[in-house]
Amino acid sequence: MSPLIENMDRMVRDIPAMPEVAQKVMHMLGDPRTTNTSLGQALSSDMSMASRVLQMANSPFFGTRQKISSVSQAIFILGHAALRSLIITVCTKGIFKNPGLMEKKIWEHSLATAVGARLIAKKTGLMDADEAFLGGLLHDAGRMILAVVYRNDYQLIFEKFYNGRLPTDSVLEAEKQEFGFDHAEIGSRVITKWRLPNVFGRICRRHHVSNPQILEQEENPNAVALIGLANLMSHRLGLGGAAPDDSIDIDNTLFNKQLKISGDLVQSLMAEMAKCYEESEEQFKM
Ligand SMILES: [Fe+2]
Ligand SMILES: [Fe+2]
Repeated sequence: MSPLIENMDRMVRDIPAMPEVAQKVMHMLGDPRTTNTSLGQALSSDMSMASRVLQMANSPFFGTRQKISSVSQAIFILGHAALRSLIITVCTKGIFKNPGLMEKKIWEHSLATAVGARLIAKKTGLMDADEAFLGGLLHDAGRMILAVVYRNDYQLIFEKFYNGRLPTDSVLEAEKQEFGFDHAEIGSRVITKWRLPNVFGRICRRHHVSNPQILEQEENPNAVALIGLANLMSHRLGLGGAAPDDSIDIDNTLFNKQLKISGDLVQSLMAEMAKCYEESEEQFKM
């Protein structure tokens, strides 16, 4: 076996599994016979999962005016799709055991991208809002896993990026040189291992695409473009980095063209994204 394949296999093996309760609830969410009561019982069997879901359910981000104080109320008010997003958010956050600056910044960037993607989806109607949130949250699943499995080696790449010595669009190349594969590739493997819908794997694999023909050939070009744009907006705002990345011409990206979004609209979405992220940061923070 070549060292590259061996390395990749080791990575996939070391990707942490989803907690049991999350697997069970996710399975139930896909079954039309599932009732809110049985869902609530399953989720409540893991108190720590249930309380973390409740904490996030009360984020202003979900726009609920009344305080949600029980799991069954959360299911009733938020609905199944938002609940799925919350459970995956809790699980994803949980893969970082002793978060330092790198882990916190990757999380901040992922969350900001999720918030931005949800706003773009709501504004354009090009994607389901909860699916967009999850797509944004998971788009850099590969970075999360590299940070967990190869913490010390990945720290060096992260520091260069964070200190502005590695432009955003050169990160993939640096990862390839170091590991033989990049976070886009490994991210799509994470999605498969977690048995999440294929669209998230495509988002992980293609969110850095720069060739319009490759984007056009995508099975779901709008989903990839929407998350790709939210990712760039997040970098442009400096969420996940040390400072805003001024080198990104956010009014004229390949993704804007695909989504038919004007520069003015991107600017107003970005302002809304920054505000919405700030309001929700507390409930979601690491
Ligand atoms: Fe990325
Ligand atoms: Fe990203």
